[in-house]
Amino acid sequence: MAGRIPSQFIDELLNRVDIVDVINSRVPLRKAGREYTACCPFHNEKTPSFTVSPAKQFYHCFGCGAHGSAISFLMDYERLEFVDAVEELASLVGMTVPHEAASPQHKISRDLYDILELANRFYQEQLRQHANAAKAIGYLKQRGVSGESAAVFAIGYAPPGWDNVLRHLAGKNINEKQLLAAGLLIAKQGGGYYDRFRDRIIFPIRDRRGRVIGLGGRTLGDETPKYLNSPETEIFHKGKELYGLYEARKYSENLQRMIVVEGYMDVVALSQYGIKNVVATLGTATTKEHLEKLFRAVPEVVFCFDGDRAGRQAAWRALEVSLPLMSEGRQIKFMFLPEGEDPDTFVRQGGEAVFQQQLQQTQAFSNFFYQSLSKDVELNTIDGRSLLVEKAKPYLLKLPEGVFRHMMISKLAEISHVEPDKLSTLIFSDEGSKAVRQYAGSRLFKTGGPTPIRKLVQLILEMPSLAKYIEVEAIRGLNERGIPFLIELIETIRLKPHINCPGLLELWRGTENGELLTKLVKQPSTLTELELHLTDEDIKREFFDTYQWLKRESFKQRIDELTHKASLNVQEKQELRELSALLAANYIGDTAKEHDA
Ligand code: UTP
Ligand code: MN
Repeated sequence: MAGRIPSQFIDELLNRVDIVDVINSRVPLRKAGREYTACCPFHNEKTPSFTVSPAKQFYHCFGCGAHGSAISFLMDYERLEFVDAVEELASLVGMTVPHEAASPQHKISRDLYDILELANRFYQEQLRQHANAAKAIGYLKQRGVSGESAAVFAIGYAPPGWDNVLRHLAGKNINEKQLLAAGLLIAKQGGGYYDRFRDRIIFPIRDRRGRVIGLGGRTLGDETPKYLNSPETEIFHKGKELYGLYEARKYSENLQRMIVVEGYMDVVALSQYGIKNVVATLGTATTKEHLEKLFRAVPEVVFCFDGDRAGRQAAWRALEVSLPLMSEGRQIKFMFLPEGEDPDTFVRQGGEAVFQQQLQQTQAFSNFFYQSLSKDVELNTIDGRSLLVEKAKPYLLKLPEGVFRHMMISKLAEISHVEPDKLSTLIFSDEGSKAVRQYAGSRLFKTGGPTPIRKLVQLILEMPSLAKYIEVEAIRGLNERGIPFLIELIETIRLKPHINCPGLLELWRGTENGELLTKLVKQPSTLTELELHLTDEDIKREFFDTYQWLKRESFKQRIDELTHKASLNVQEKQELRELSALLAANYIGDTAKEHDA
């Protein structure tokens, strides 16, 4: 295959390219004497044994033996074919790859490019000439697509009928087999072929070099499917291509940021409104290949989705895919449109300025990440914050080592009140993993954790002054095993307000309750285990939450008792009314809290 590109050109190319740039933009390198080093991207390692020599323009890994030139690096790292790796490097330094006589394998591909080019030209002509052209143009007009935009995006029209393309290209010596391979025809069951695209607006999908590689066709009405795309062919892979990338790059080679939207019409509309740096996935979720392509073009990617649930889900999936790619210098942001809007309708309504303004309100990766994970997590409780750490962990493990990962940890540290160093250990060391797992396993996901009463005792041992807040009468009636002791503890502290934890342990030494107390003190509280920084605020909040819960249980028990009585006296009736009101108030308090969160 190498023979297809003159070797002279390869030499020239390798002279112009700097391997350090090529590798550094993908695997951040550190200078070490005359060479550069990094942890090897081709095997798993903790200490760097991957070296790049600027003098030799060569890389070598002492760990796994991987080695080669800038070309082989791209082939292995980006999983590119030789030709594509050469193309990639050439575009980096502004050279055009010359091709010698093609091998048969590539002859076919070349033909496919030609066929699609011819087909698209035909569709463009039909938009002007066909008897139905007025209808098609009318549709585009009604959707606000200008003639200029139609030209920039080479939009065309596939007329109704079963054999338009078939006949047109047959006249140019292109046979049915080739048309089928290009994705333009569909094979009939009983033999024969017919046009895939009929009575549809045609959007050509072009590769980086502007060659048509596939087509998307939209109905003029409500028929289904609304959009029909070329099938996978030798030159068209939906999961790798981005609609509008060629057009955006043609507008400017020096874009800093690319906006990723969902639809063809979104790209066309935004571009028409002056926002040229837009691409769309082709009806598929964002893939790693998409992102790699994007990051080769720009350092910043903004995903633009609907603000509804589906949009947020799509954004989350994009985030998941991007985790392993988040190395230095790369940024991902998320932009959510008002519900029910897509970029097309949104920009037409508000114009460029409003879109740009919305663009200023993008959510940073870290924000969107922690916000999504914190949904349904009560961050004002210790349990909630530990749960967040636990939830974040598998994702953080996917981030490449480096500044970005560091910043993500710092942010988590802020939210969870755990020191960043401690957090790193918890997340990235095996020991830490075990601690988090044990913790999560023991308390968060199993119900067998300490009972609320034990928890109160534990918190009171931690801060005896809390005891004064408990109204003994409110819980006395509660039919729970630990209640008498809890009350004893509270009353003791009332009498000795300055007593501390060891003092309390001393009082019950040698008794069964004393043993329980020691156990509760020793029981590694979640807090110390995770080394969460417990503020007095935290302890109090935890205490009051638990106490509220207990009080409610107590009311419920009493209400239950009363309502099961055959008859109630006046006092009992009054009590029942009061308790019900209190309980209702309590619940209202709770719901309000949920609404705030
Ligand atoms: P949408 O359903 O969001 O449509 O599809 P849209 O882009 O807003 O289209 P208009 O405005 O009604 O014309 C988003 C993308 O999903 C793919 C297409 O790539 C489309 O642009 N899609 C959608 C399909 O491939 N097939 C379909 O039937 C629908
Ligand atoms: Mn739309």
